Amino acid sequence: MENENVVLSAPLFSTMEDSERRAILASMAKVELNRGEVLFDEGENGDRLYIIEEGKIKLGSSSGDGRENLLAILGPGEMFGELSLFDPGPRSLSASAVSDSIMYELEHSALVAAIDENPGLASHLLTALARRLRRTNEALADLVFSDVPGRVAKALLDLSTRFGERVDEGVRVAHDLTQEELAQLVGASRETVNKALADFAGRGWVRREGRAVVLLDIDRLERRAR
Ligand code: CMP
Repeated sequence: MENENVVLSAPLFSTMEDSERRAILASMAKVELNRGEVLFDEGENGDRLYIIEEGKIKLGSSSGDGRENLLAILGPGEMFGELSLFDPGPRSLSASAVSDSIMYELEHSALVAAIDENPGLASHLLTALARRLRRTNEALADLVFSDVPGRVAKALLDLSTRFGERVDEGVRVAHDLTQEELAQLVGASRETVNKALADFAGRGWVRREGRAVVLLDIDRLERRAR
């Protein structure tokens, strides 16, 4: 039951009464994915959105020649899959699990009924969309104006806001991403991203631990990300 609270307390439902939230959760089906499993592919038709209870979901697209670009790594309480509901059409990105994950899915008709009953939901959806657009615009500007180390620093800080855990030395971010996935998120080659990480480690700003990284000097990373 404890985990269900993550979905119940998702920002999307924050204007609903507790009883309404429980009713909507009861109408949502639980979906479990193992690491690496695909939930949906870019281009598929979609009629439901998802709220993450546990785990990490990557959203990305592939180019015709097989290269991949990651737009976001989402975690508990976050929502995705709403675009093809509001603008009927194919899924704009693929979604798959970076770690074992649990989600709840909400069908279009149930969402429309919930918005009719509770107009506050619509404003939370708009807030989520606006926030996403801001982040995407910023990422686009960074691709043009920032160098790879700057983008790596920013990606680490961004991941830390979702998956960071305070430890004595700083913040441990168990991102679960492979080096390739981290490179796809930053929009650079694996070699360049590795070089940036090795440089940060050499300066004592981070320590790498497999699929996690400990941020030791947040101030420096923030300055480097600017
Ligand atoms: P949909 O197009 O149904 O399926 C893919 C989902 O990825 C999409 O809905 C959004 O929820 C999400 N998405 C699309 N673009 C972005 C983005 N730039 N940043 C974060 N999430 C996104």
